[in-house]
Amino acid sequence: MGIYEKYFLPKLLNLAMKAPALNQVRKELVPLAEGRVLEIGIGSGLNIPYYQNTVQVTGLDPSVELQQYAREVASRFGRVVDFLTIGGEEIPADDNSFDSVVMTWTLCTIPEPHRALAEIRRVLKPGGKVIFAEHGRAPDPHIARWQARINPVWNVIGGGCHLNRDIDGLYTEAGFGYQQVERGYLEGPKVATYNYRGIASVS
Ligand SMILES: C[S@@+](CC[C@H](N)C(=O)[O-])C[C@H]1O[C@@H](n2cnc3c(N)ncnc32)[C@H](O)[C@@H]1O
Repeated sequence: MGIYEKYFLPKLLNLAMKAPALNQVRKELVPLAEGRVLEIGIGSGLNIPYYQNTVQVTGLDPSVELQQYAREVASRFGRVVDFLTIGGEEIPADDNSFDSVVMTWTLCTIPEPHRALAEIRRVLKPGGKVIFAEHGRAPDPHIARWQARINPVWNVIGGGCHLNRDIDGLYTEAGFGYQQVERGYLEGPKVATYNYRGIASVS
């Protein structure tokens, strides 16, 4: 890991992910998690304040640097979170062990999203739900073309983030259907702000 990834990227991500438009989405979605919850890509812990007090949260993320921020947030809000330092492609949990999975703006960065979604499916209890928010491929062809052009540079600056993943396709191919979904641009440059959010479950 280079100096940029170790020292600058965690600070940059922690700041960028605090954008008010994203916080509004967190506020609406995260309280929907119930029971035993697995958060994939917990990052700097920005969802932690929004969990109901009744849930038991396990937060997975390969970045120890971001996990430090998340631990501070958990302690500040008096929340107990079990942290797992690993990627979502290999979740160290039994089959059918979580009631909810929360994943916000992370599928864009996971190197093997198909594997991660298969793992999420494995660890979710029957009837369990994935509460998600992601940015991804825009429906407007000219925006999508710009996303494709910028993506190689964005990928390096954003620590592996892809601007134009086909979020609907990834969920569908993994055998999930949406219980609810909203799509649209949030505030900011259109190449980076086409968002998908909702609840998915095994269809
Ligand atoms: C843009 S950040 C989003 C962080 C957080 N979910 C949020 O809403 O603020 C992307 C996150 O994906 C994490 N990540 C990278 N590779 C991953 C993987 N293989 N599995 C799970 N998370 C991963 C990064 O460490 C980072 O925390």
